[in-house]
Amino acid sequence: MPYYPDDVINEVFAENDIIDYVSRYVKLKKTGKDYSGLCPFHNEKSPSFHVSREKQLFHCFGCGASGNLVQFVMRSEGLDFVEALKLLAERAGISLPENPNEGMDGSHELKKKIYEMNKAAARFYYEMLTKSPEGKIGYEYFSRRKINPKTITVFGLGYAPEGYNVLYTHLKKMGYDDKEIIDAGLAVVRDNKIYDKFRNRVMFPIINLRGNVIGFGGRIMGQAEEQNGYKIPKYLNSAETPVFNKGRNLFSLNLAKKSSPYSIILVEGYMDVISVYQAGIPNVVATLGTALTENQAKLLMKYCSEILICYDSDEAGQKATIRAIEIINSVGGHSRVIKLKGAKDPDEYIKANGAAHFYKAVSEAVASTQFRLGILRTKYSLDSPEGKSLFVKEAVEVLQSITDAVEVDAYINQISDETHVNRDAIYSEYRKRVMAKAKNPNEYERKDFEIKKGSDEVIIPIDVPPMIVSAERKLIFLMVENKKFISEVQKDFPAEEFSTEIHRKLVKLIYDLKKENKRIEPSVLVNAFEGEEINYVSNIFYNLEEYKDLNETVSELIRNIKTEKIKKQMMDEKDPEIISGLIKKMTELTSGNN
Ligand code: GTP
Ligand code: MN
Repeated sequence: MPYYPDDVINEVFAENDIIDYVSRYVKLKKTGKDYSGLCPFHNEKSPSFHVSREKQLFHCFGCGASGNLVQFVMRSEGLDFVEALKLLAERAGISLPENPNEGMDGSHELKKKIYEMNKAAARFYYEMLTKSPEGKIGYEYFSRRKINPKTITVFGLGYAPEGYNVLYTHLKKMGYDDKEIIDAGLAVVRDNKIYDKFRNRVMFPIINLRGNVIGFGGRIMGQAEEQNGYKIPKYLNSAETPVFNKGRNLFSLNLAKKSSPYSIILVEGYMDVISVYQAGIPNVVATLGTALTENQAKLLMKYCSEILICYDSDEAGQKATIRAIEIINSVGGHSRVIKLKGAKDPDEYIKANGAAHFYKAVSEAVASTQFRLGILRTKYSLDSPEGKSLFVKEAVEVLQSITDAVEVDAYINQISDETHVNRDAIYSEYRKRVMAKAKNPNEYERKDFEIKKGSDEVIIPIDVPPMIVSAERKLIFLMVENKKFISEVQKDFPAEEFSTEIHRKLVKLIYDLKKENKRIEPSVLVNAFEGEEINYVSNIFYNLEEYKDLNETVSELIRNIKTEKIKKQMMDEKDPEIISGLIKKMTELTSGNN
């Protein structure tokens, strides 16, 4: 296999989501933690094809096809590994080295450097804010806005000093050159001079899901004002760079996703996120000064089941809310709307009313359809037949985005009740819209892939007891699920002691990664295997058993494997003395004295 640097491959994986990709071919439905649908690799009527966002793997319980995203592309497009990787890299705008064996091209190096420079800049701004005399005005600004020191640390807030090239000079000292600093968007050229991009502003670092600083937002510490006839923007955001794409990232998603929340609150501004977070709700994000994109909605849906929109309460906020609902609907997501009365935005609301009132407003979030119908109601006078007719026509349009027939029915009843328009008439309007849409179908086409038979079996040596194989598989699964079990298993079983070649290779990989303190991800582990082994390995991670007590399960599995091994030894043993020793060992094990 041609060689690509590991981090290039990892980047391709990180930038392509398996759910995103697969849902272009397979209609996926969320079932519990996973998504399921009809398997594209064999003919079936009921869905046994599962995809896991968390593991970034697919698996069909019907035909056994299984693997990571690259393997999905290989199968579905009939490509080899490198071709599939190339396809995915292109999709994510990553340039792969032309000749894999020659290593990296410059763009990857530059990205790495930009991450480093951003990190250095964030650190610099933070130190300025918290430790330097110049930064005091920034610190006081945050204090005035009731941001406490702990919150400053959590978000890594900072202060960009007034001088025109303080950060630039700092980065130069660290060894970065002009072009790199400018490419990172941290400095700009004007009149042949290099200036810091952010000057005399409080700083909000934007951090991606992998914990890298990708850009910044910076706010002036007062009202927007004119200077020399030029209005200084209140907020300044980093320009797009090779690592910063405003439409594909969200402020604070790195923190919001930590609690594996059921819902995530979407607000407009950085300060809103910070206030809500400080009020005790960590699952909150903001777009980066632009309207919500489909990409961001999809990204959010990967981390929650429901998006709670909490935009500004003015008219612009209301318009943006409707747009956000439409975007979320269009990618199959659910949203509700949090209404704040008597304040401009969540930050002001919390400051004026306290956290408890905000929680209450969150708990009273209304379904997005209800919200949209509410707005329509204020738009038309329901007293006149004309008003009613216009209202009903727009209302049925709103209902088009609901996929649940019962829900549609319930809303039609509601609309009928409040307008006194006959429900059949409303239903007929609704159907008209549906039919008009059906004429212009934009539905996905299911691609029928070739089924590769016989590729899902891996030969297990016949002299290995199936019980051991199965227990080892579970142990491997549990080690990857919960890294704390690795050392426990390793203590009893070095990799060589696992019973099959595949298990030994896999476990060695896991132990090595653990030793180097690297991330251990199923979708990456699978890459070490080829052909039929891929299914087998990927299957290990598709373990749907539920374990009550993980610690107990791991100890029990270890004990079972040891017992089985002794049993096997006993079968092959002739010497009575050794046999009685083995019996003793076994009794000790089963009585729990290991
Ligand atoms: P505060 O005044 O600090 O409370 O900010 P806010 O979040 O209430 O401000 P606003 O509702 O005006 O802006 C919401 C978001 O839009 C901000 O967080 C920024 O991302 C973006 N934004 C606001 N003003 C500007 C601007 O002047 N330029 C740019 N590029 N973005 C802005
Ligand atoms: Mn505000």
